[in-house]
Amino acid sequence: MERKKVTVPVVMAMKRKGKRIAMLSVYDYPTARLADQAGIDIILVGDTLGMVILGYETTLPVTMDEMLCHVKAVSRAKPAALVIADMPFMSFQVSPSEALRNAGRMIKEGGADAVKIEGGICRASTAKAIGDAKIPVMGHIGLTPQAIRRFGGYKVQGKTGRGREAIIDDALALEEAGCFAIVLEGVPWKLAKEITEKLSIPTIGIGAGPHCDGQVLVCHDILGLYDGYVPKFVRKYADLKPDILKALSGYVGDVRTGAFPSLDESYDDAKDNKKDR
Ligand code: KIV
Repeated sequence: MERKKVTVPVVMAMKRKGKRIAMLSVYDYPTARLADQAGIDIILVGDTLGMVILGYETTLPVTMDEMLCHVKAVSRAKPAALVIADMPFMSFQVSPSEALRNAGRMIKEGGADAVKIEGGICRASTAKAIGDAKIPVMGHIGLTPQAIRRFGGYKVQGKTGRGREAIIDDALALEEAGCFAIVLEGVPWKLAKEITEKLSIPTIGIGAGPHCDGQVLVCHDILGLYDGYVPKFVRKYADLKPDILKALSGYVGDVRTGAFPSLDESYDDAKDNKKDR
């Protein structure tokens, strides 16, 4: 059965109705189709693609062009899920007008339904500028990976009284600026619960405990495909790396021994004269 398109108002209503939101970072056409068939509500084309797909050490080098390439691929899958394009580092920090221009590219060229930006109070005016152009914006606060140089690494945020208050203020400022939802990353679960109760817009947690309105993880992490460091909040739903390695080694072995291709896997001019493929 065809799913109905998940829109921004649908996502916002899910909080009011107490329906939990399932979001996943996905970067390509075939995986977007699978995620959609699995019933994912929101596909985030996250800048984590820099690490997971492009082999960078952090998300910092990711460019607009790299993001757009993957946003377009996911959009071509025409998912029912809401497609959110992550704004890469330095595509929205310089000025609200530059941020708006780049957010517009994600919608016009990439085909995304919405964009996501990292940062709290310091990005509220940017979120407002993008939202005023009727481009839906998701916020992202807490352990924001584009700020790792400032944090000194991937460190849980909001553990101290001052840090907690700052993150609550960030969340309230983004709601006030018009964000339709906020990702809470790498914060203690009690703080995430408090923010979720304070806000009327949905919170989507990653490493923020069970009380958020929704959860987001990276597809390659839950499928057991990523080779790098996997944090404690990831749950692996499959361990595909050994299976893929076995299949690829099987192919290499068969080519080397001549077991592939068989005559059944080869064209025969007498039998196959009508079919080319
Ligand atoms: O880039 C990403 O995939 C993200 C999520 C993990 C929230 O920002």
